[in-house]
Amino acid sequence: MINIILFGPPGSGKGTQAEKLVKKYSLLHISTGDLFRYNLKNDTKLGKEAKKYIDKGELVPDRVTIKMLKEKVEANPKVKGYIFDGFPRTLPQSRALDRLLKTRGGVSKLLMLDVPDEELIKRLVQRGKTSGRKDDTDKKIISNRLSVYKETTLPVFNYYVKKDCSVKIWGVGDIKLIFERLSLEIDSLKGVRRKKTTSKKSSPKKATKKKASPKKAVTKKKTISKKATTKTSAKKKSTPKKTTAKTSKSKAKKTTKK
Ligand code: C5P
Ligand code: MG
Repeated sequence: MINIILFGPPGSGKGTQAEKLVKKYSLLHISTGDLFRYNLKNDTKLGKEAKKYIDKGELVPDRVTIKMLKEKVEANPKVKGYIFDGFPRTLPQSRALDRLLKTRGGVSKLLMLDVPDEELIKRLVQRGKTSGRKDDTDKKIISNRLSVYKETTLPVFNYYVKKDCSVKIWGVGDIKLIFERLSLEIDSLKGVRRKKTTSKKSSPKKATKKKASPKKAVTKKKTISKKATTKTSAKKKSTPKKTTAKTSKSKAKKTTKK
């Protein structure tokens, strides 16, 4: 199974990108924020409980969120994998997810959309105009959500750095380019079927095998990936085929334009 955590602060584009990614990779999109909003709209018991926190930009208690997520995963066992959007947001949620995915292939990658605060605030205020979401319109709530992200949610990124799963992706610019950066990271996972391969160059022996080495198959794409994404320092120490750390934003833009 391919299990992706789409990570990042509120307004970083997780929902937008998740929608595109689930189509491309035939995965199930699980957005805990959307699940809460569905319950809010239908005035369920869960919705009533969650409202108290969402309206303030606080996190719903782990017990409630984990139960809801677990039920959603267990209700959809026959999928190729999941894209988790907005979950996990705390360390206990991360540990619960790891337990839940133990028999489902584990977390394949955490992809963090890296977007500066000023841009996030601009996007959230803009979104609030059409979404009608109270937590997107009130500047105080927005600011609280950003603080909660930094204090409580960011440690989740480091938790998966230790598991060599975390990757930072520059999340500003053209939606298609950001999508491409994310796709390259998913393509580099074992067992992901790629759309285009360069199998022409591989040896006859390799060509007869259906599952050619992922390394060979994406040589071209890997090169772009190196420049288009930014890795954490922990990543730097990993296998040589992994990308190196400091890639400037401008460089990323230049490369992807080619
Ligand atoms: O993910 P999204 O930004 O749509 O979530 C909206 C709100 O739902 C959050 O600000 C938070 O109040 C709540 N939430 C949560 N725990 C999660 C996901 C969302 O408390 N794991
Ligand atoms: Mg969202």
